[in-house]
Amino acid sequence: MSAPNSDYDPVQVTPLDPDQVARMVSDALAAFAAAGDLDALKEARLAHTGDRSPLALANREIGALPPAARKEVGQRVGAARRDVAAALAARQIALEAERDERVLVEEAVDVTLPWDRAPQGARHPLTTIQERVADVFVAMGWEVAEGPEVEAEWLNFDALNIGPDHPARTMQDTFFVENEDSGLVLRTHTSPVQARSMLTRTPPIYVICPGRTFRTDELDATHTPVFSQVEGLAIDEGLTMAHLKGTLDHFASSMFGAGITTRLRPSYFPFTEPSAEMDLQCFVCRGASVGDPDNPCRTCGSEGWIEWGGCGMVNPRVLVACGVDPARYTGFAFGMGLERTLMFRHGIADMHDMVEGDVRFAAAFGMEI
Ligand code: DAH
Repeated sequence: MSAPNSDYDPVQVTPLDPDQVARMVSDALAAFAAAGDLDALKEARLAHTGDRSPLALANREIGALPPAARKEVGQRVGAARRDVAAALAARQIALEAERDERVLVEEAVDVTLPWDRAPQGARHPLTTIQERVADVFVAMGWEVAEGPEVEAEWLNFDALNIGPDHPARTMQDTFFVENEDSGLVLRTHTSPVQARSMLTRTPPIYVICPGRTFRTDELDATHTPVFSQVEGLAIDEGLTMAHLKGTLDHFASSMFGAGITTRLRPSYFPFTEPSAEMDLQCFVCRGASVGDPDNPCRTCGSEGWIEWGGCGMVNPRVLVACGVDPARYTGFAFGMGLERTLMFRHGIADMHDMVEGDVRFAAAFGMEI
């Protein structure tokens, strides 16, 4: 058995000694004064006012004192805690003011700096040319039609008379969307928009559709797996190849300047009959390199002509598949590569320039809209 705790005098307990309490206060005030920024002050606050700080521990001791001693000690510790809290609040305000002043200086924006030194983006010339093409046709009363880039296989191929065994439908040419029988592809041309237009509009139909297309080509100087085309479709009574030729001639001179010479060369597409390729007279040698081995032309391979795109009279099978009466209506269609068009128009030699997204390339075309 232990003896009664008769000589225990709580007032003498060290943490509650007046000098000791005064030292806690002065230590705290010194630490607050020494804190050079808000982070340091936070540390000092935790050390001197936190749950485990000397003053908090002293405060906890009060409860253990005999009632007679509690009042005096309580007042002393209470006053000490108030002094420390006041000093902390004052330092907090001072340091916040300092920080605000510093931020104002450090983050100041000099609105007098010349603004044109800030690097600016530029419109990509492909975007610009799409709008330019649309403008040419809208001016003739055509409408701009749209279709999705992830397209139904049926619209991309079957509706256009491209049968299941057509070579274009192999994995080597087309990006199929998983899983294999999803019935979806990344459209390989803008021609499905023809089918969509016929299925959703009633003739006469005059639509143009610039847009992105996809094929499994490797990127090189003349190919890119993501490219752009512009599709045109006209369905009306009495349309002939002459209307097609006149329309494309107007399109060509709008793109390349009046006086550009064009020709239609027989070709084959499943969705047009008859079909043709539209060639442009070589804009570099103007045909002069043909039969002149001393002056070869690299642009046209001394052919005198460069291929611009495909076209033809809409195959009646396509009209039927898309709900248009071939006994009453005929139509013509065409599809031109827009990268190709840009390359001819601006003498761009390498496809890489067009897809790499270097703003210096795009900026060279200016801000034409
Ligand atoms: N879709 C064809 C292609 O990607 C281009 C084309 C040819 C579109 C003839 C047409 C057309 O509308 O009539 O190569």
